[in-house]
Amino acid sequence: MGAVELKPLLEEGLSRAVLSKPRRDSPYSKVTVRPVIVDEELRYQFEYRQGEKVTHANLLPLEAEAALAELIRRDFRQALLQTPAHDYQVLDGEKVLRRPPTGKPAELAHDRRKRRLLEEGKPVPFLVELGVMTPDGKVRAQHYDKFRQVNRFLELVDDVVPRRSLRIVDFGSGKSYLTFALYHLLAVERGLDVDIVGLDLKEDVIERCGALAHTLGYEGLRFEVGDIALFEGAPADVVVSLHACDTATDAALERAVRWRSEVILAVPCCQHELYGQVHDNELEPLLSHGILRERFAALATDAARAQLLGVVGYDAQVIEFVDLEHTAKNLLIRAVRKRDSVETAAMERYRIFKERLGIDAALERALADVLPA
Ligand SMILES: C[S@@+](CC[C@H](N)C(=O)[O-])C[C@H]1O[C@@H](n2cnc3c(N)ncnc32)[C@H](O)[C@@H]1O
Repeated sequence: MGAVELKPLLEEGLSRAVLSKPRRDSPYSKVTVRPVIVDEELRYQFEYRQGEKVTHANLLPLEAEAALAELIRRDFRQALLQTPAHDYQVLDGEKVLRRPPTGKPAELAHDRRKRRLLEEGKPVPFLVELGVMTPDGKVRAQHYDKFRQVNRFLELVDDVVPRRSLRIVDFGSGKSYLTFALYHLLAVERGLDVDIVGLDLKEDVIERCGALAHTLGYEGLRFEVGDIALFEGAPADVVVSLHACDTATDAALERAVRWRSEVILAVPCCQHELYGQVHDNELEPLLSHGILRERFAALATDAARAQLLGVVGYDAQVIEFVDLEHTAKNLLIRAVRKRDSVETAAMERYRIFKERLGIDAALERALADVLPA
């Protein structure tokens, strides 16, 4: 749809759209859109004005996205799209101006959309301290993406993390928004007895995170300076590693496998390792373009990781996550331990894959003594 990307905007929750200034050959003088609930499902109601005549259509979200995009492209020179986080003004189907929100949240008679684990309007202390929320619980417009990311992460965690006392290590915790979020969900909301350690190489960051945990009274959340590969703490039930660079993710995965951790949540990032390795004559049209090669190598790295986790007893899924900076870094490997045995058939599939691409992945080398011969 040209310059206007509607999907992220609809994900923010479109509360109203008004399309005006019709082009000369448009059949409509104005179109308005609002969310409604029909048969307990979210729809977007389009109201089309043609002179005196008014017609309506209730569309599914994907249909609505396509219809809205087409109307903006073909029929209207101006569109105002309102979400709880922003007002977007689209001019001539291309130029998008983003402003602070002015509309009221959409009132739906029976709003059955999936409830977020953290709700706007309900202050969450760590989000207030980190500046994402105001003290009365309003999400600051410039941090709305972060709020969405934290919520998405918690949904993905909530589905798989067991409800009992847990030891968790977050490798490469950095500024630790998601580590605090994890503690909030499990210890504060769910009342579980959790011991979470955030580990990172950066002393200053670790110091700040430790001070914040202290301010919040989060007694089960600690931060330590250290390298993933050299970490000597006790085994964890859950291993988290989010956006740890390149093969730091592999070091975290190796740790989890050796500990037999129950759950692994890893968002890889900067997967450079295989870039120089991948080789396949038949794939040259793809591999000869630097950017395509880079993306392909990153995907191949994560495919290898997921497959190897499968070999050593995990059910591993690769799921779309929300990343704030680089859309190529938006995959989460979520693995849940299911078996103690190794899967030789899965290893055979891995070997065919690696030989085809001529790769030698860091995780395979790290787990050489554990993998089937
Ligand atoms: C891009 S940041 C991500 C921070 C946080 N997990 C997040 O998702 O927002 C990556 C972090 O991993 C840390 N890191 C990279 N390699 C590491 C290693 N070998 N041991 C410990 N931390 C590491 C870096 O210092 C950095 O803070």
